[in-house]
Amino acid sequence: MNAVDIIVKKRDGGVLTKEEIEYMVMGYTEGSIPDYQMAAFLMSVFFSRMNDMETRALTAVMRDSGDVMDLSAIEGIKVDKHSTGGVGDKTTLIVAPLAASCGVPIAKMSGRGLGFTGGTVDKLESIPGFRVSMSSDQFIRQVNECGIAVIGQTGHIAPADKKIYALRDVTGTVENLSLITSSIMSKKLAAGSDAILLDVKCGSGAFMKTQEDAEALAELMVSIGNSSGKVTAAVITDMDQPLGRAVGNGLEVREAIEVLKGLGPKDITELSVNLAGLMIFMGGRAKNEADGMKMAQEALTSGRGLAKFADFVEGQGGDPAVIHDHSLLPQSSVEMELTAKEDGYVESIDAMRIGMASQHTGAGRERKEDDVDLSAGLYLHRKAGDKVKTGDVICSVYGNNVKKVEKALEEAGNAVKIGEVKKEAGTLIKKIIR
Ligand code: URA
Repeated sequence: MNAVDIIVKKRDGGVLTKEEIEYMVMGYTEGSIPDYQMAAFLMSVFFSRMNDMETRALTAVMRDSGDVMDLSAIEGIKVDKHSTGGVGDKTTLIVAPLAASCGVPIAKMSGRGLGFTGGTVDKLESIPGFRVSMSSDQFIRQVNECGIAVIGQTGHIAPADKKIYALRDVTGTVENLSLITSSIMSKKLAAGSDAILLDVKCGSGAFMKTQEDAEALAELMVSIGNSSGKVTAAVITDMDQPLGRAVGNGLEVREAIEVLKGLGPKDITELSVNLAGLMIFMGGRAKNEADGMKMAQEALTSGRGLAKFADFVEGQGGDPAVIHDHSLLPQSSVEMELTAKEDGYVESIDAMRIGMASQHTGAGRERKEDDVDLSAGLYLHRKAGDKVKTGDVICSVYGNNVKKVEKALEEAGNAVKIGEVKKEAGTLIKKIIR
């Protein structure tokens, strides 16, 4: 077997065997296949595509390239939740405590933000003292005692994906169904939970721009999850405009706390209750999905979800006083406002551009090794469909560097379109795939 023959076979539309896929993936991970050959291979997959059997084989090889977590020491059905990446998506911070307060153990491995999308680990680190690294014994103890633990991604989980994803990022080969599926599912299958709920984003701020593409991705991931022995479901949700109003790490933690107090924006509250309800059902704590949603809503209304969030923060070394005192979160020194130049209605707020604006403030990173400004980001005072008058503040932009905030303000200006006619925002939850 050699790499050139495999590249040529895929380039010419051939179907690869499991052994050929394993040869490429493991050769690259271990260093015997160089970047240029793997880049050519990825591009050949991008154009010639893989069929379902090849995608399944690719996912399994990537899963087995590192450790597969054993969470059997945690009692109950462990349910993991994964979002394919969005702007302002802080649902994990809300959904995890809601589901855990209803008895579903959450043992979660999360990533950092890259490019225009944020990451749960960065968000949690904006809470003073919060630790995302711990030994596997501590991790299991925290889940058994508190019901939730969130740790950062380790190099031992699906190392093949870590290396291949970095290469895809710089070779224009991210947006391919098989490559996205295998990347996400290899990590989820290795992370050890019994059930997986996927939030597949669709729209301008997502990898999948159309509902059709998002459904194809969701169906393939659900099928691979289920055939690998994990109960898997997916929710297709809108990412045409940012979720909620806050974008940026500390700002998003603050908004998540508001949601858990019952004071958050409608869209993120609705999505969080739905996702938590599905997780409660998948975790065997409700007799059907509708019952799960009711339990999630009750956990929110009663404040049990908020109390669980406080336990979780304290359990991982963070200061739970942030719940009542937002001034404990990182504070920025520069604030600028984007105002409406005309009367009308907010027609659209491009999620990807807002994500890029947030990155310009310093809230996101351009390269993996960059630091992030945990206080920086944007707050949307208006969302699509809202009426505005000239001079009204549409969004506030925060940071600690005037030039960066100015650049972000300009990008935010490009993201917002004002029109004369009120347009209703699209449905938030488009479909559930089981
Ligand atoms: N998220 C991932 O982890 N991998 C992809 O390929 C796309 C989104």
